[in-house]
Amino acid sequence: MSPLWNSPRDWFRWFLFEIGAGYYTEKLASGPEAELREEFANWLAPAADTRLLDVGCGPGHLARLFARRDCRVTGVDRGRRLLRQAQRWSEQDPEVDANAIQFLRAPAERLPFPENSFDLTIATTVIYFVAQPAAVLREMVRVTRSGGVVGTLDPHASLNRRSVRDYCERRRLDRRDTRKLLTWAVASERCLRFEEHELRALLAAAGLVSIKMERRMGGLVWFARGRKPAGS
Ligand SMILES: C[S@@+](CC[C@H](N)C(=O)[O-])C[C@H]1O[C@@H](n2cnc3c(N)ncnc32)[C@H](O)[C@@H]1O
Repeated sequence: MSPLWNSPRDWFRWFLFEIGAGYYTEKLASGPEAELREEFANWLAPAADTRLLDVGCGPGHLARLFARRDCRVTGVDRGRRLLRQAQRWSEQDPEVDANAIQFLRAPAERLPFPENSFDLTIATTVIYFVAQPAAVLREMVRVTRSGGVVGTLDPHASLNRRSVRDYCERRRLDRRDTRKLLTWAVASERCLRFEEHELRALLAAAGLVSIKMERRMGGLVWFARGRKPAGS
């Protein structure tokens, strides 16, 4: 089996992203999920020139947003068609300097970078999805410099179809945006969703300290970040 997949189930998840790459790219380009990722970017607030790695970057919308904010961005994903979309959207974005962004195909469990390569390493809606979350987080910490930051965005344990429907009603989201979030809720119900102690333990076990966690999107989502200890 290719090292890009950990099991037949994992291969199937990869395959779904391959056939759905165009739909997924459009789905995330605007609406509540795009707003959530922008909120996450603002929460992390990296300075200009930050060397940023986006693990499981998918169509690269968030990677592009950071590039527009003058970060030097690398996006990594295992999806061939998703990366093609990421490359295309980035080439067509007049605000993105082509020299400030690159995309690579690689497994999150074996990132093709030496230790201490990045100031900030992020994974949005990836840790909850991968077959080996602890291994991916360890890799993210390894490639981040000492004193650098690792940030993640994942579902809270309460995220499901019912809680998302309630959230959409409260926010008076239209049918299109509600459908987008419900699709995510369906996927989340088949993946990991975290209570605070579970996510905190994963991040700490990967070697992070000064962990900060906040619930967003009506409490249904975790923003989390931690620091790689200086001198490690
Ligand atoms: C739910 S999507 C999130 C995409 C993007 N981070 C975002 O916020 O929209 C999960 C992404 O992780 C990628 N992925 C899943 N498992 C992976 C692995 N083991 N190695 C690399 N990428 C992986 C998928 O191809 C997909 O693009």
